[in-house]
Amino acid sequence: MLDVLIFAVLPYFAIALAIFVTPYRYFSNRLDWSTFSTQFLERRSLYWGSIPWHYGVVLILAGHIIGFLFPSTIQSLLSDLSALIALESIALGLGLMTLFGSIILLVRRFSGVVRAVTSYADWVLLLLILLQAATGVYMGLFVRWGMEWYLHTAVPWLYSLLTLNPQIGFVSGLPLVFKLHVAGAFLILAVLPFTKLVHFLFLPLDYLKDPPILYRWVRREKQLGK
Ligand code: HEM
Repeated sequence: MLDVLIFAVLPYFAIALAIFVTPYRYFSNRLDWSTFSTQFLERRSLYWGSIPWHYGVVLILAGHIIGFLFPSTIQSLLSDLSALIALESIALGLGLMTLFGSIILLVRRFSGVVRAVTSYADWVLLLLILLQAATGVYMGLFVRWGMEWYLHTAVPWLYSLLTLNPQIGFVSGLPLVFKLHVAGAFLILAVLPFTKLVHFLFLPLDYLKDPPILYRWVRREKQLGK
């Protein structure tokens, strides 16, 4: 029953929410579609949380997607033991970066001014992101070799979802931590349109090269009569 819920019901529910709520949010209140200025709130812990989290999660997700799109190419690559060990080690490093970043981002939310602008949905999302990184790293460490078995279990199950014929037999025998990881992934998708993370849909790639926007107070100059 739990397997049906996680592997057949939750994915479609989450996709439907993402498809219908996201455009509604975009057209109903466009000004709300962003994170707040980092300089007005708090910058130091944001830096230590945001940088490792963003670089970690983007590369890890790219790895998940490449495995999904090109399973046979990745399979032949991983048949070389040294390649398998090297790629697993890189993934573990990135996973640890993501985990570290998500802990800092969550702790930062407890500080006064940041807490004041955090909605319930943002709290839920941050907890889910932390759970996602923690279950991923746990698998990387204790359910060896995830990159390999992912190709023969999760990938065919994900394809079966796409063809509207969920074959949960591919994944129902996997350990509980994997089920939590998958449930976490689709819960993130479900709450995403209600949170600040929705800003990622703008693909803010320019942020990687642009300097941060700096705001300057002008009050002091006015007082000095300038
Ligand atoms: C249905 C969707 C997903 C599936 C089937 C899945 C599956 C997996 C598997 C099998 C691993 C272990 C890889 C290994 O041992 O090297 C893993 C690791 C990981 N996943 Fe996912 N994942 C999904 C979605 C996500 C999402 C949405 C995120 C982030 C928001 C995420 C973040 C991670 C992280 C951080 C790791 C740790 C990498 C490592 O330490 O090796 N996953 N995932």
